[in-house]
Amino acid sequence: SPEEIRGLVDEELGLLDPRIYSDQDLYELELERIFARSWLLVCHEGHIPNPGDYITTYMGEDPVIVVRQRDRSIKVFLNQCRHRGMVIERSTYGNAKSFTCTYHGWAYDIAGNLVNVPFEKEAFCDKKEGDCGFEKADWGPLQARVDTYKGLVFANWDAKAPPLIDYLSDATPYMDVMFDRTEAGTEVITGMQRTVIPCNWKFAAEQFCSDMYHACTMSHVAGVVSSLRPDQDLSDVKLPVTGNQFRAAWGGHGTGWFNDDFSLLYAIMGPKVVDYWTKGPAAERAQVRLGNKLPANRMVAQHMTIFPTCSFLPGINTVRTWHPRGPNELEVWSFIVVDADAPAEIKDEYRRMNIMTFNQGGTYEQDDGENWVEVQRVLRGHMARSRPFCASMGVGKPNANNPDFPGKTSYVYGEEAARGMYHHWSRMMSEPSWETLRP
Ligand code: FES
Repeated sequence: SPEEIRGLVDEELGLLDPRIYSDQDLYELELERIFARSWLLVCHEGHIPNPGDYITTYMGEDPVIVVRQRDRSIKVFLNQCRHRGMVIERSTYGNAKSFTCTYHGWAYDIAGNLVNVPFEKEAFCDKKEGDCGFEKADWGPLQARVDTYKGLVFANWDAKAPPLIDYLSDATPYMDVMFDRTEAGTEVITGMQRTVIPCNWKFAAEQFCSDMYHACTMSHVAGVVSSLRPDQDLSDVKLPVTGNQFRAAWGGHGTGWFNDDFSLLYAIMGPKVVDYWTKGPAAERAQVRLGNKLPANRMVAQHMTIFPTCSFLPGINTVRTWHPRGPNELEVWSFIVVDADAPAEIKDEYRRMNIMTFNQGGTYEQDDGENWVEVQRVLRGHMARSRPFCASMGVGKPNANNPDFPGKTSYVYGEEAARGMYHHWSRMMSEPSWETLRP
């Protein structure tokens, strides 16, 4: 019941019922209430630059084709043949004039219209001749709504959901730190990397939304230490202590960052990338561009999630969608972006450093995955699901709002943004109508 679902998240005390990460019935409801109603990241515009370019991906567990049209608009439709349900396109990406189902040969144009049915005349009676008739126009795949924000392509199945720009709420200035540094926009410098992690999608989404805590207290410390100069004195290495977290006014989006302390970003990305990101003409130009929104040049090692499954790390520049695969598994689909007008050597350095850090084989990605997999494994136990998890950092503390940054901010080592994410999760799960959910 809605009351029972709301009882799984106690926002006031910061308590989370662990069953939200492992229960099959809740997962089925997530597919319906969250993944069939939210704006989901499907790719970057740079993945499909030319008419006919397509990528096959997912919205929740539903396979979709994302395809650039001749008028340069983008369509997203269910990758499911209306005849007997085979996927329409089996390859991951390419350029197509049409899509032909490999089961019986029904063919669809790039807009998703059914245009050819083998033996149509011989096998079907004409619609004009009675109710049994067949009309190709009735048998196109389900179309999703599509919109873009600064190069990111989002899709949504729900006709009643708010427009993307309203859905993003007051989180856009924080997205712009990464996606709007230059009028040239961002460019994808890799394809799509895919990994399976046996854990619930919310562990990953929540960490990118709200959790700087793990990075400097424990999980990534070994990675940081291993990237120090051999002659560096460890006693000189200090944990960053100043920073903030932002909780969106609506929608469950969140982000966090350190203020002015570049040590963590140096350790992850090295001096070339950090100098490009924080000093020199490109950084100065970015600050002028973003200056009326927020002091981007002070923000370091930022993490961010747009609810539910679009996450990214400004400065490191990895972007990913956490595709759910049941309550106990997710698929990471990730890519790297850079300022489109960055020098070639900087683009290559971003590629190289991401491979070493936030990539399938990257040190930091594996630190994170190891934690999430172990937590999920523990949740197989009956008793392990019997007591709430603690998400109460910051509850009852004096207001730490930083007036230098827009919206509701708090201290960087906190869980205010996580509570915002689970508050929105709980509302989406328990409120069936957009009439009450709308921003
Ligand atoms: Fe696609 Fe039959 S399932 S043509």
